[in-house]
Amino acid sequence: MRELSLNVLDIAQNSIKAEASLIEIELVESTEKKELLIGIYDNGKGMNDEQVQAVTDPFFTTRTTRKVGLGIPFFKMSAEMTGGSFGIESVPGVGTKVRALYKTDHVDFTPLGDMCSTVVILITMNLGVDFIYKRSLDSKQFVVDTRQLKEILGDVPLNEPSIVSWLTDYIQENTKQLTEV
Ligand SMILES: Nc1ncnc2c1ncn2[C@@H]1O[C@H](COP(=O)(O)OP(=O)(O)OP(=O)(O)O)[C@@H](O)[C@H]1O
Ligand SMILES: [Mg+2]
Repeated sequence: MRELSLNVLDIAQNSIKAEASLIEIELVESTEKKELLIGIYDNGKGMNDEQVQAVTDPFFTTRTTRKVGLGIPFFKMSAEMTGGSFGIESVPGVGTKVRALYKTDHVDFTPLGDMCSTVVILITMNLGVDFIYKRSLDSKQFVVDTRQLKEILGDVPLNEPSIVSWLTDYIQENTKQLTEV
């Protein structure tokens, strides 16, 4: 995949398929360490240990007829090829945490791409799911929490065009402020 934001979209879609009602997407970047952590945490149905092992290794199930997707293997590979690392923790009935750590100065580091669109698409296409989007760069951070937005908006849905454009601007503006000195 050419952009990490597309990996994030894919991993968050797994959480939606797993019937999560709350999904947190966290990006933590350190200039000094030259590292980026991407975490996607959900309260969906979770996986047992055997399932976790099966989904992280695309070859694990080659001897069986079970279909295994490539969303997680691709995400894992995108991190590991930069010299970073990858991990999944999951508890059946509780939820799943997926984390990828990237070395941002590695030649194989894939650009993040359009995270704003990814987050806006996830939020506006899944009105029944709440999202927390947290992004930090060194000591600066911003957070978008749809539970708070819904409280303020009352009956106005998050996919109302004027709200979508406000949300897009809000995320873009905050992202810009992170990188400004
Ligand atoms: N957050 C999650 N909660 C529960 N199960 C999950 C979660 N993420 C992945 N899984 C399980 O792992 C499987 C593999 O996920 P993966 O994203 O690699 O492939 P996929 O979603 O099946 O197919 P695709 O290639 O379309 O992404 C899923 O089908 C699902 O059973
Ligand atoms: Mg998937």
